[in-house]
Amino acid sequence: MASQRLDEDGICALARQYAQKLRKGDMVFLIGELGSGKTVFAKSLLHSLGVEGDIPSPSYSLIQTYDLPGMPFPVWHCDFFRLDDPSELRELGLGEGLDQAALVIEWPQIALPELLKEDIHWKQGRHCYTVQLEFDPEPGWRLVAISDRMELEQK
Ligand SMILES: Nc1ncnc2c1ncn2[C@@H]1O[C@H](COP(=O)(O)OP(=O)(O)OP(=O)(O)O)[C@@H](O)[C@H]1O
Ligand SMILES: [Mg+2]
Repeated sequence: MASQRLDEDGICALARQYAQKLRKGDMVFLIGELGSGKTVFAKSLLHSLGVEGDIPSPSYSLIQTYDLPGMPFPVWHCDFFRLDDPSELRELGLGEGLDQAALVIEWPQIALPELLKEDIHWKQGRHCYTVQLEFDPEPGWRLVAISDRMELEQK
């Protein structure tokens, strides 16, 4: 797995690269402790796709959806940290997101069985990118490991 040490500008640049890769049905899993930079990554990705102004955190809504100018599919920004019961995901329309959108997901571990249900995403050649963020001993820096396979631990 590729690993790099990045400051906040570097994280934002990486997110912009991922924005360009995204296709319908893709997922970006953002893994890392509280404050490691998952939302920084997600906001930079969304801004680079044309979202203007403040991007609200999905901490409480769990999902924020974005229809983007010039993009044929929406992008969903999800944060499952406060998800109590994975069955709520059905009510939140996760199935529709998996079919119709690209998903950028903080704390995906919490909803993993639902996200990977039926394995359809792999069969149809969609990507699941995993970005793991760890604190570096030096403030302002993160160790970032990237993979397009899943290397997840339960929260
Ligand atoms: N190299 C870096 N990359 C990303 N963020 C950094 C970096 N250095 C410092 N920061 C700061 O760390 C904080 C990261 O906060 P952020 O909300 O993105 O964390 P998070 O992983 O989404 O946390 P949570 O699990 O609570 O959602 C921001 O205040 C950001 O300015
Ligand atoms: Mg966050």
